[in-house]
Amino acid sequence: MISVNKLNVSYKTDSGVARAITDLDMDVHEGETMGLVGESGSGKSTLGLAMMRILPKNAQILSGSIQVDGTDLMSLSTGKMRRLRGETISMVFQGAMNSLNPLMTIERQVSEPLIIHNMAQGEDALERGREVLRKVGLKSAVWKQYPHQLSGGMKQRAVIAMAIITNPKILIADEPTTGLDVVTQMAIVKLLKDTQRERNITMIFISHDLPIVTKIADRISIMYGGRLMESGTTSEIVRSPRHPYTTKLLASVPDVRGDHLISGIPGEPVSALRLPAGCLFRERCENALKECSSYNYEIGYQEKDHVAFCINTGAV
Ligand SMILES: Nc1ncnc2c1ncn2[C@@H]1O[C@H](COP(=O)(O)OP(=O)(O)OP(=O)(O)O)[C@@H](O)[C@H]1O
Ligand SMILES: [Mg+2]
Repeated sequence: MISVNKLNVSYKTDSGVARAITDLDMDVHEGETMGLVGESGSGKSTLGLAMMRILPKNAQILSGSIQVDGTDLMSLSTGKMRRLRGETISMVFQGAMNSLNPLMTIERQVSEPLIIHNMAQGEDALERGREVLRKVGLKSAVWKQYPHQLSGGMKQRAVIAMAIITNPKILIADEPTTGLDVVTQMAIVKLLKDTQRERNITMIFISHDLPIVTKIADRISIMYGGRLMESGTTSEIVRSPRHPYTTKLLASVPDVRGDHLISGIPGEPVSALRLPAGCLFRERCENALKECSSYNYEIGYQEKDHVAFCINTGAV
């Protein structure tokens, strides 16, 4: 369904070139949920935006490809890509619930994608908006309200409604539970899971919170410093992680605000402006060997679909 091959993405910044994604390979099969996990700055949103082909102007896809159903996204005209965004692939943007238009009622806001993509107009669009609002669990009392009148969880439901109103086959949900309390996080996970099953959506669930991702994903890809560290089925990742970074993420618990990790991984993530040679994680890794400084990202462990990019996987 989605196939990312040797993708390299960078950003031009005032302090130099940031290598946001390096040599990334990823396959997402039809109807499955892929969890995309990593600390802040690991390149998760960049990958999502690249899949939507809406990277900011200072970003550059240096090489590699992203294919959806065999079509190379980079080869599509702007018009075809716009149609694909309406009909095939949709995204719940990171922080979207905090950037809803404060002057627009919820029902109007949720119907907007239909109008933008010329799929419905006027009262017809509004009616379909209400229908999808009902589906995500928002009752009629809130349809004519404004964003500030809604709780965080309700706003997140509205944002999800907005992303699925065009009936996409692929949904990228970028940090959809971040900033919500634990009970609400679980409700949003359930909503996305139910929606995914009901519509047989292929989903990419992006989060820095690995424990949450294990509750929804069929397979998980772990990123660090713009590279894939490990990927496998959820049970393989949970039961027999092969990369020390994965092990650390599994032991971490997000803090109460839910936007960063409090325990587990000492040190700071690598900077995309100055990626070190060798294994990117080695400076924070308890199992690091001398050879890790010249590691060149050959596969360190592979068993069917489970791969890890580490030369000391036996030590995990
Ligand atoms: N618009 C931009 N301009 C310059 N650099 C950027 C831009 N967006 C992201 N970056 C850099 O690219 C790298 C990857 O960022 P990205 O936002 O994709 O990470 P992320 O995994 O989504 O992080 P978070 O968990 O904080 O959302 C980081 O080093 C970041 O600083
Ligand atoms: Mg992000």
